[in-house]
Amino acid sequence: AAAATEMAPAARGEGGGKPFVDEMRAVAMRLHTKDQAREGEKEPQAPPVARWEPTVEGYLRFLVDSKLVFQTLEDIVDRAAVPWCDAEFRNTGLERSEPLKKDLEWFTEQGHTIPEPTAAGTAYASYLEELSEKDPQAFICHFYNVYFAHTAGGRMIGKKVAEKILDKKELEFYKWEGTLSQLLQNVRITLNQVASSWSREEKDHCLEETEKSFAYSGDLLRQIFT
Ligand code: HEM
Repeated sequence: AAAATEMAPAARGEGGGKPFVDEMRAVAMRLHTKDQAREGEKEPQAPPVARWEPTVEGYLRFLVDSKLVFQTLEDIVDRAAVPWCDAEFRNTGLERSEPLKKDLEWFTEQGHTIPEPTAAGTAYASYLEELSEKDPQAFICHFYNVYFAHTAGGRMIGKKVAEKILDKKELEFYKWEGTLSQLLQNVRITLNQVASSWSREEKDHCLEETEKSFAYSGDLLRQIFT
């Protein structure tokens, strides 16, 4: 909440100020720990990624839960359950449930048993369903953070984990068709367009949801090393 209220009121004029995605990014970056990202402001409570001791079992739980969360986001957008989440938000190229399906098939071929989603995954999925029905601005916050976090820190984590326990196998989860930076830029433009119709209160409400997004995604990530 503090993050949103600290913003200079002068930058809040109609149509003025910076693009809304820049505001979303600024709030997200402040919620990182100092060892996670240069712009992070939080004190770390967990070991830095470099010192994670991942297990295949933990990583599989994370991948299964991630698949559930991405599938849920994609289903919500496909049935246009949230206002504005129609054509523009479909087939952005960032979708991850199909690549994850292929990755889990690969793990099966390697002789691993694919677990059921954990409570962390199902809790996040049902929270997203709930938001899609009654809080579109908050839903958009999760949409942004889940997809963009995965292309930044998520990708870095995937690389480190693969080095430690997968003999550097590069999963489909971390491969995008086309130029990733361009895919991200297209989604930024869509998000800015959508938010341009929001009141300042609605924008702040969206930004205030960022902490929950970090809490839910943090619960998923933690499984990799516990
Ligand atoms: C960006 C690391 C967790 C959301 C980044 C960046 C790094 C990073 C290095 C790029 C910063 C830059 O552009 O200079 C990490 C690490 C994490 C983590 C190591 C956990 C161990 C999260 C979580 C969320 C999140 C849990 C939210 C659910 C974002 C967002 C961006 C970002 C929205 C901006 C991406 C963009 O502008 O394209 N993160 N992050 N991150 N992260 Fe994280």
